Amino acid sequence: MFSQDQILEKLTEPIIAPLSGYTSLPFRELLRQNGFTGLYFPEMINPFEIARGKFDKTFSFENDQPYGIQLFGGFQKGIFQEAIHILLKKADPVLLDLNMGCPVKKILKTGGGVRLLERKDDAKAILEDIRKVWKGPLSIKTRIGFTLNDIEETVSFLKELQVFNLTFITVHFRTVAEGFSPPPHWELYQQFKDQLNVPLILNGGIYSVSHIREIKENISPDGIMLARGILMNPLLFKERTPSLNEKIDMAKFFIKKYSEIYGEKRLHEIRKFMVFLFKGEIYSKALKEKLFSSTNLEEYLESFTFYRM
Ligand SMILES: Cc1cc2nc3c(=O)[nH]c(=O)nc-3n(C[C@H](O)[C@H](O)[C@H](O)COP(=O)(O)O)c2cc1C
Repeated sequence: MFSQDQILEKLTEPIIAPLSGYTSLPFRELLRQNGFTGLYFPEMINPFEIARGKFDKTFSFENDQPYGIQLFGGFQKGIFQEAIHILLKKADPVLLDLNMGCPVKKILKTGGGVRLLERKDDAKAILEDIRKVWKGPLSIKTRIGFTLNDIEETVSFLKELQVFNLTFITVHFRTVAEGFSPPPHWELYQQFKDQLNVPLILNGGIYSVSHIREIKENISPDGIMLARGILMNPLLFKERTPSLNEKIDMAKFFIKKYSEIYGEKRLHEIRKFMVFLFKGEIYSKALKEKLFSSTNLEEYLESFTFYRM
């Protein structure tokens, strides 16, 4: 079991965000295969799914540690406790995280995600429930607010949540209104940091080696969390950009693993990651067409051969 201090030592490497539909087991294997030793997250999971025995998102492999598990959902008495009991029989996370930042409708309907920024009592009740059964490292992940008018309110709420002995707080520095596209408000990092007593992880808009360097030089945060950046460049944690040939090798590794673990029938699920991985590369459109018309492992793997002709 990783202690809180060991996790904090890991913050010299970026954390890899939970990314629904992406941070699957084969993707995590790809990162470990390429030397990532830091903390990452499988796809988030809902306590009700756990209670119903749905676990495929939390399956792990030999070198999976250290990984955290992110839970999402609204408050319902006892459900987080029950889920964690079941979860810990099957998985061995070094940290649990509560999703308080997701703005997707499906998640908001559960009363969870960023809804918990306004349902403050529910957020506290969930964290209280979690703390009854989980004494280990715990974190939360949220946004700076619904709009830029909320910053002070968000900071003071996060201050209140520190009583739950949080290992760190991750903030995606965009508002809910901004969604996922505009440049994030990294300039607000210090305002949050000044008022919090737990390590603050900066997330949002870190897509290139130069972004990482800029952040380290100008902001020097306690830690950074990569999300879409790691999908476009799985070596971003090393502050390196892979060549096209390296990307092709990574893609093939990933596709073979995916087929091995989930079966050939589910290979269509890899396409969206390939779109991220080859974004901006020469012939990426032609590659996309090939991948989207592939129907079996051999065809998927052959999609890349035209690059080498
Ligand atoms: C496809 C996708 C899936 C995501 N899934 C999750 C998730 O399961 N849990 C979570 O807290 N955030 C999730 N996020 C948000 C990211 O973790 C991250 O906060 C956000 O994308 C901003 O970082 P970026 O600009 O570096 O991508 C997701 C984002 C995307 C684009």
